[in-house]
Amino acid sequence: MGLTLGFLGTGVITDAIVRAICKITSLDISIKVLARSTAISGKLAAEFPQVEVIADNQSLVDVSDFLVIALKRQIVPEELAKLQFKQEQVLISLVPTINRQRLAEYTRHPIDNIYRAVPLPFIAEHQSVTPIYPENTTLQQIFSQTGGVIVAADEKQFELFMMGGSMMGIYFKFADSCARWLFTQGLEEKQANIYISQLFHCLSQQTRLQESINFSKLQAEHSTPGGTNEMIARLFVEQGGAELLNHVFDDALTINQ
Ligand SMILES: NC(=O)c1ccc[n+]([C@@H]2O[C@H](COP(=O)([O-])OP(=O)(O)OC[C@H]3O[C@@H](n4cnc5c(N)ncnc54)[C@H](OP(=O)(O)O)[C@@H]3O)[C@@H](O)[C@H]2O)c1
Repeated sequence: MGLTLGFLGTGVITDAIVRAICKITSLDISIKVLARSTAISGKLAAEFPQVEVIADNQSLVDVSDFLVIALKRQIVPEELAKLQFKQEQVLISLVPTINRQRLAEYTRHPIDNIYRAVPLPFIAEHQSVTPIYPENTTLQQIFSQTGGVIVAADEKQFELFMMGGSMMGIYFKFADSCARWLFTQGLEEKQANIYISQLFHCLSQQTRLQESINFSKLQAEHSTPGGTNEMIARLFVEQGGAELLNHVFDDALTINQ
């Protein structure tokens, strides 16, 4: 492939993607990361010969064929405006809620060379599917080897994948509520946490084994008629739990638009 891939921002997600790519021996990719965040960049360069540390943002842009934008959302407009990009360069933004049109304005770059992707930290172990938009042969070739790739049909659909990726926090909130309740009722805290995490791990494994996933069917299969599983799910819906979740997701989508 002979590609130089630069990462603007050397944080958690860059660390995970670089590790994912470096595990694939068949890809001929040279990786450039910023010296900033020495703890991560230094470690990556020490572990992987294809990783080189670059001193500053503009020098990184200058050497990259493909440039991944992995900065916190708040500083993106200001930081991108300071940089000079080459017209033919491909920019891939991991930043939520800034659409391609706005990225094109901040970078003064052709929109056709601007892509978005939403990898998750599990990519490091090739365990997560990465949605991208629009289609790009090189990106698809890379991400298909790091756990899988989905090409969104349009940017609205891409935003929905981003919303899906933002459901990690509520998953842990739910797990914490379950374990905490067991703890307040008398289980040891550690015992409750381990029990719930093991239970959810098994449920997730069961789900992934399905040929075609149908959550309602799985719910029914894991609920004895008239039993406690069935009762808790029914009470949750009757008391507005499912509706509340829908409202929360709607609100988050509206605020992000
Ligand atoms: N983490 C995820 O699971 C995930 C998944 C998908 C998308 N994203 C998105 O990807 C972006 C990065 O997320 P992250 O979790 O990797 O964040 P992070 O860990 O906070 O990393 C951000 C990096 O940017 C660096 N930085 C700050 N200001 C900079 C500047 N002016 N020039 C160059 N580098 C600068 C930071 O360095 P210092 O530490 O020195 O400030 C840090 O290394 C965010 O927009 C996030 O929403 C994250």
